Amino acid sequence: MSLPEGPKSPDILQTLQWIAMPFSFMRRCRHRYGDRFTITLSKRIGPIVFFSNPEALQVILTGDDSELLDAPGELNAVVEPLLGKQSVIGLSGDRHRRMRQLLLPSFHGERMRSYGQLIRDITEEVIGEQATGLPFSVRKAMQKISLRVILRAVFGLNQGTRYQRLETVLGALLDRMSKPVSVSAMFIPMLRRDFGPWSPWGSFVRDRQQIDQLIYDEIKERRTHPDAFRTDILTLLMSARDEAGAALTDLELRDELMTLLVAGHETTATALTWALYLTHKLPKVRKQLLNELQTLDANADPGSVSRLPYLSAVCNETLRIYPVGILTFPRVVRSRLELAGSTLEPGTLVVGCIYLTHHRQDLYPDPDEFRPERFLERRYSPFEYLPFGGGVRRCIGMAFAQFEMKLVISAILSRFDLELADNRAVRLVRRGLTAGPSPFRMVAREARHPSVVGELATS
Ligand code: HEM
Repeated sequence: MSLPEGPKSPDILQTLQWIAMPFSFMRRCRHRYGDRFTITLSKRIGPIVFFSNPEALQVILTGDDSELLDAPGELNAVVEPLLGKQSVIGLSGDRHRRMRQLLLPSFHGERMRSYGQLIRDITEEVIGEQATGLPFSVRKAMQKISLRVILRAVFGLNQGTRYQRLETVLGALLDRMSKPVSVSAMFIPMLRRDFGPWSPWGSFVRDRQQIDQLIYDEIKERRTHPDAFRTDILTLLMSARDEAGAALTDLELRDELMTLLVAGHETTATALTWALYLTHKLPKVRKQLLNELQTLDANADPGSVSRLPYLSAVCNETLRIYPVGILTFPRVVRSRLELAGSTLEPGTLVVGCIYLTHHRQDLYPDPDEFRPERFLERRYSPFEYLPFGGGVRRCIGMAFAQFEMKLVISAILSRFDLELADNRAVRLVRRGLTAGPSPFRMVAREARHPSVVGELATS
């Protein structure tokens, strides 16, 4: 098989570089081999070709449900220990399509817009909890917001002990998962050894058991006390039937809920953390945002906020320069394919490299510079700008995450006066299977009344 060139170092070395320093590793590969190269992360999976030119991405992401290419769930086994075998991410073919159809409406259109006020209330609640003058961890606060949003809005879970336990244990589990030792266990199965509650894998397994129990308890309660007026996602999933009339099993329900909880809150929290950092690090950006927010009255409906052009550009640029998902899920070549000068044989694995595409000098001049105006000056195609991937596995929460980002950022900027706690450099680091900022803190000054936004914008 003739694959595009790539590093010649042993697989284990490539895997370690991918785990410990994915960004410099990819940049070096691009520098050396161009916008397609092959790396090998494990013997089990075999070589994977990384693509970062829009023409190739177009072929991959428009042909991933055809005789040319496919997006089988089995290739995403890396998420299985956390999300389970029945997660939509692990499903293929018709089962995958059906599950997506079931999940998508909760994250789109009217249903999504109905969460607007709740998102703003939760933001005010969480930022309002921060003591004035005392530094707080931005990631923790953003995680709290995005988890509360998904638990309350999408899952319809109300305040109570179960809700609070879920918030605590899930937060702890995801933090643990972001550490290099846990990431290594995701990629290298032989590291998955339970040496008791203090060992990395042992604590993961115990946290996961607790979360499973909380989810199963919720399912049981809903079965015992059905409520015909509920429209949340758990209710929808519980009432769904396949063509043979069968309902989802408890295990399937658990895996889908866990998927939405993890995929839906960790990613958005990271994007929000970056957006807050950038808007407070760059006074010009913050000022321009405040100017734009001032054009709306304090009780503007969430829809008008989400249509603000500069706010949208800031969110787009945040996800461009620091895409939370570094890669798309892998696709597999089904019939011989000519792609970007290479002949790919059936069975070849390919991924879209979101990070490198978003840092192409020809598409984004001075790619390491944060410049929201790019998105006002030019329209990018879905193969030039793809923070949510594309094709048959395009992110289910895309519209929802964008909506949430804009509402949270606008609520924080217009209602609170925050500043970075210090000048420490914030770096892009791996966080589990995704990428995010190294930890940093901010300080809340006096909460402000909406009318003060105008004064700040002009100061
Ligand atoms: C800023 C926030 C987010 C980013 C950057 C992001 C990014 C991505 C990316 C890159 C993919 C892979 C797409 C591909 O392979 O083509 C993906 C898939 C997925 N995302 Fe997101 N995501 C975000 C938020 C969310 C939210 C809020 C949810 C749901 C509540 C969600 C649920 C999913 C699911 C279920 C998949 C798998 C889809 C499938 O396998 O068919 N994501 N996301």
